Amino acid sequence: MKKAFQLVEFARYLLKSEHWRGHGVHSPFMYHFIRETLMKASKKPNASQYIAELRRIAPKSVTKSSFGASPSNQTESTHSLLQKISISPKYGKLLNAIVCNYAPKEVLELGSGLGVSSYYLANSNTNSHVVTVEGMKTYADIAQTTFRSLGITNVSVANSTFAEFFESLAPTPKFDLIFIDGAHTYEATISTFEHSLSVAAPEAFIVLDDIRWSEEMFRAWNQVKQHPQVRVSVDLGRIGIIFLNPILQKQEYQVRY
Ligand SMILES: C[S@@+](CC[C@H](N)C(=O)[O-])C[C@H]1O[C@@H](n2cnc3c(N)ncnc32)[C@H](O)[C@@H]1O
Repeated sequence: MKKAFQLVEFARYLLKSEHWRGHGVHSPFMYHFIRETLMKASKKPNASQYIAELRRIAPKSVTKSSFGASPSNQTESTHSLLQKISISPKYGKLLNAIVCNYAPKEVLELGSGLGVSSYYLANSNTNSHVVTVEGMKTYADIAQTTFRSLGITNVSVANSTFAEFFESLAPTPKFDLIFIDGAHTYEATISTFEHSLSVAAPEAFIVLDDIRWSEEMFRAWNQVKQHPQVRVSVDLGRIGIIFLNPILQKQEYQVRY
């Protein structure tokens, strides 16, 4: 059922998406984003260094996450879990390109998994500080140990639920880039997005992963786009990006990526 939904929605995206290489985009901000970030992202490094180190030091199998759309307490090989839950190089490189081009000082990731997307967020700009939140202690420990082993110091792994994490924050934390990749349900995505808005800097970017993963994830994305604080939304098929900068004109884009 989910597969059928994904196929239909991706086909629709491919038919409707436009602005290849920035054609037809009038906003200078958006034109620059497409030309300098989207078009150059493929040249960024992949996460092979991180994955090789993780495989070397992590246990061969781990318990699956008890959070998410299909919680489980079964064990799985670390190799197969890495492949299942981690961001693909195409979109990881895009996160990397955003950090390189916009140099966010404070980055928040909700859902570290085994740390692959955190690596893409952290390894390009050491002036950025990445806080990544993960509820599964085993996953958080693996990510933490791998970062330490590679000598990467600009990532802090917080082992907590998202709710506990938001509660623990000081009154006015401001994140310049937020990547939401937690439980793939409508309620969790909307709730995480709303909490994220309350800790976002005025010109923040918020990136949501897997917006076409299921009917409810797509419904959440369509609702997020309508939020009054959202100025620009960019639908890239798998990923959706929200720009909050109040000087931008309200607009929705579906960009071929
Ligand atoms: C898809 S995985 C993240 C993958 C990672 N971003 C990557 O691409 O490498 C989602 C993660 O979010 C965690 N998670 C989901 N809901 C959570 C919650 N409410 N609190 C803490 N962690 C949560 C899960 O345990 C899981 O590891």
